[in-house]
Amino acid sequence: MIAEIRVEQANGILTITLARADKKNALTNEMYGALADLIENAGQDGTTRVVLVQGDGDIFTAGNDVGEFAAIAAGKGPGERHVHRFLHALAKSTVPLVAAVHGKAVGIGTTMLLHCDYVLLAPDAQLMTPFANLALVPEAASSYLLPLRVGHVRAFEMFALGEPIDANSAVAWGLANKICAKDELRAQAKRMAEKIAAKPAGSLSAMKLLMRNAEALIAKMDSESAKFEERLASAEAREAFSAFAEKRKPDFSSISQH
Ligand code: COA
Repeated sequence: MIAEIRVEQANGILTITLARADKKNALTNEMYGALADLIENAGQDGTTRVVLVQGDGDIFTAGNDVGEFAAIAAGKGPGERHVHRFLHALAKSTVPLVAAVHGKAVGIGTTMLLHCDYVLLAPDAQLMTPFANLALVPEAASSYLLPLRVGHVRAFEMFALGEPIDANSAVAWGLANKICAKDELRAQAKRMAEKIAAKPAGSLSAMKLLMRNAEALIAKMDSESAKFEERLASAEAREAFSAFAEKRKPDFSSISQH
């Protein structure tokens, strides 16, 4: 396993901890590869009954590594983009997924929650999907799943404005199950994972298959990815990535629509 992803397997629970706190757990291609392997294997190892995802440091994750987005935009991206395998693994997973979220969950940090089965939040949790701020489009089938979950106008607001949704709203909108004290987050998430792990695994797996249409989700992910790749190469996105690197606000005013 890589240093940025910590894994613990005990009592049927696979706990995955995002461990790149100095970069706010921003996800690199290598991290996506490790996450994809873990989620794919969890469905096949005959041991894992629940997967629990959490983050080290002061936020859950800052989403995709923006430096890697910039490298892809400049034609210097990695040969194989593991994010696609990670997203497909989420869509296909029939092992229950629990998430424990504190601080910000940005971009894929929020959209991956749409594939989780139980989401616990610390009071400081903030869900945000600032795709338009980076001149990108939604991913992880969130262009379908988010409006379905919260309604079109809230989903549009989240995608287009990219402003954070606080923990109370996230629960009220059906994006998470409940809020617990920050110092209790990991313990409570573990207790919930244990509770789920004690249920008949075959029943839960069949239930997930019935509740989610993996093929349709993958088709949506793939069409989003095609548009996402186009957007990564746009002048707007280049300006957004440069602005992030230079720690300034992007200026899209002189860039025409295409
Ligand atoms: N990709 C790469 N590096 C990131 C990152 C990301 N998504 N998010 C944070 N980092 C890095 C910063 O560049 C900084 O690195 P440095 O110390 O070498 O300068 C470090 O993590 C700390 O981030 P900083 O911005 O100083 O922390 P903050 O607490 O002020 O803000 C965030 C935290 C998450 C609000 C802010 O970092 C942010 O907006 N990140 C980008 C989120 C994003 O757009 N993700 C893509 C979504 S599609």
